Amino acid sequence: MDIFERIRQNPGPLGQFADYGEGYFVFPKLEGRIGPRMKFQGKEVIFWSANDYLGLCNHPEVIETDAKAAAEYGMFYPMGARAMSGETEYHQQLEKELAEFTGKEAAYLLNFGYQGMVSIIDALVSKNDVIVYDVDSHACIVDGVRLHMGKRFTYRHNDVESLEKNLQRAEKVAAETGGGILVITEGVFGMRGQQGKLKEIAALKDHYNFRLLVDDAHGFGTLGKTGAGAGEEQGVQDKIDVYFSTFAKSMAGFGAFVSGDKEIIRYLKYNMRSQIFAKSLTMPMVIGGLKRLELLRSRPEIKDKLWHNVRKLQNGLKERGFNLGDTNTCVTPVFIEGTPVEATLLAKDLRENYGVFTSVVVYPVIPKGMILLRLIPTASHGDAEIDETLAAFEAIYDKLKNGYYKEKEREMNLEFKPL
Ligand SMILES: Cc1ncc(COP(=O)(O)O)c(C=O)c1O
Repeated sequence: MDIFERIRQNPGPLGQFADYGEGYFVFPKLEGRIGPRMKFQGKEVIFWSANDYLGLCNHPEVIETDAKAAAEYGMFYPMGARAMSGETEYHQQLEKELAEFTGKEAAYLLNFGYQGMVSIIDALVSKNDVIVYDVDSHACIVDGVRLHMGKRFTYRHNDVESLEKNLQRAEKVAAETGGGILVITEGVFGMRGQQGKLKEIAALKDHYNFRLLVDDAHGFGTLGKTGAGAGEEQGVQDKIDVYFSTFAKSMAGFGAFVSGDKEIIRYLKYNMRSQIFAKSLTMPMVIGGLKRLELLRSRPEIKDKLWHNVRKLQNGLKERGFNLGDTNTCVTPVFIEGTPVEATLLAKDLRENYGVFTSVVVYPVIPKGMILLRLIPTASHGDAEIDETLAAFEAIYDKLKNGYYKEKEREMNLEFKPL
């Protein structure tokens, strides 16, 4: 079959929503500064879709630092890849501070989290090694594992018993190949909001020989006494062998880092292809990163405010009958029973009639058959925004239960039938 013909017939799991939802549910255009209130289609909405947990993206000191660095260095500096011509004192300083903050010997910056994680996995394992990873891992982990030439096993989502069974299988393979075992999980599963069971996973180290890689994109800055993430929260930061976080959440920026033992970070620095063969993180983000980290460390009241908001929003939604699954982090998923179209009609009602903007999340971002509205409380939301949002959810609750959105879907008589 002609490649283009096949593509025309099957636009892919997300592409199937293009005609129905582009510009509204997928690729929506928000206007104004990122914050608790933005504009959508000309109207103000309370905005719950930014992973700006600590509200740093509009912090005056952050804006000033970014702007100064951009004025001084431009957006291109440093040239090329770190290894060729892109090394600076500032990159090294940020790495030193990130290593200290995450309780590791060394850290290395990554130009983007996604590519960084792909290359961390690719560089860490040889074809004799075995990877054991959570079946619901973020796409960057899945894609990193795809590059692996050796054996891999998935374990059931956040299920330590299933992990143990797969470690036993992995041990058998490793005994034959002479390789080692790499376990990969997220510190926080960013859609459903559960913390990875790091403590239980780390305890398995007493019985099995493996290295643990944790993607803590949503834990960094939000969990743990100092904000060092899910490992700190669960008291097992030292059991994480390779720690990773993006800057695209609490750090309100872009780029990422990996931290761990000195020798391992040095090895990664010389072997991560997406870093060696791509441009280094640019100066405004590195100098701006130092400022963000300083705020994160020195202003604990920002994290306290975030958690005040998280509790108020999550308790309020639960009291109003909504199912938030088993989130134990800031990520606030509202599980919806029904079809994807019903969920989009509900989200549309929230946006148009109550001025509340949430994301609608479906497969392939979460497992097939699951639908959720995802709200991310941040430190910059205020009580007023939470109260208005809770009132809106209260108003739609009855409609949802009485089949109002189901009826609407029927009336629309859509030809489109999502997977
Ligand atoms: C769990 C997780 N890992 C990795 C990434 C990718 O990071 P980046 O946006 O820096 O590429 C994300 C999304 O930002 C994420 O949610």
